[in-house]
Amino acid sequence: MKAIIPAAGQGTRFLPASKAVPKEMLPVLDKPMIQYVVEEALAADAREVIIICNDDKPEIAAHFSPSPDLVRSLEHKNNTALAQSVRHAGALPVSFAQQNEPLGLGNAVLQAGDFVCDDSEGFFVLLGDVLVPDNGLLTRMRTVSEAYGNAGVLAVIRVPDEDVSRFGIIDAELISGSEQDGTAVWQINALVEKPLLHEAPSNLAIFGRYLLTPQIMQLLAHTGPGAGGEIQLTDALEALLQSEPLYAIEVDADEGLDCGTIADWLSANIRLAARDAELSKVVSAACDRIF
Ligand code: UTP
Repeated sequence: MKAIIPAAGQGTRFLPASKAVPKEMLPVLDKPMIQYVVEEALAADAREVIIICNDDKPEIAAHFSPSPDLVRSLEHKNNTALAQSVRHAGALPVSFAQQNEPLGLGNAVLQAGDFVCDDSEGFFVLLGDVLVPDNGLLTRMRTVSEAYGNAGVLAVIRVPDEDVSRFGIIDAELISGSEQDGTAVWQINALVEKPLLHEAPSNLAIFGRYLLTPQIMQLLAHTGPGAGGEIQLTDALEALLQSEPLYAIEVDADEGLDCGTIADWLSANIRLAARDAELSKVVSAACDRIF
């Protein structure tokens, strides 16, 4: 299965930090957020990974290119671990497609149409600013897809009422498993992008991981601007429901870390630091000083 990582957005909510550094290149602990996303796709055995990018963000391609001089210099200074981390980032197998204008997530995915059009199997879409550090979610999505005839599967997360209008929201019914132990599988009846709270069919928000069938590309080619004037992947998925079923599984709040806003990014850094033996002491000491 191939993987598409859209990373050509404007990062408006991160300005001015994202003025000259792409949002996806901002660090979460010791590496840029997009490196987590590439590693997650590869951990799920993605055959190829394509990043949707643009000319304003050359830093992303630079990060995934070899830096032999830097590696040599670090090795010369016996910084073996750092040399290895730089070599690793430069050796991750990624390729690139262009989205010349940030017309929306749906339009970004469409730019990878040629990349998946020869395949009859599905492909993953992983948003470049959403992290799943334990790398287990895509495999769970693939298992559910296979159980339901290789259908499309979305990851969803429960959000509070005040956040509903920030996300794509699903209307769905529970068809197997249990909400209590995280095994719930939902069949989607409808999807709506950024609904007003009183129009939202549920609190289940699309979470930035998709397993899609290639048919979505034809629908994206004919999808016009939707919420916020952008070409929305959610609108094409709503159209797809006319011809194919779609399923959803839930992401636990500790499993998935959205980094789309400064507040979310800060929270992701703190939560990941708290899981690290050394950095958790830094978090704890900082909290002791503040609170
Ligand atoms: P977001 O909406 O979170 O990112 O899209 P954004 O558009 O960069 O941020 P804001 O809204 O201006 O603050 C989720 C992912 O989809 C990519 C983004 O780069 C991000 O990683 N994206 C979004 C595209 O590749 N192209 C687009 O036209 C829009």
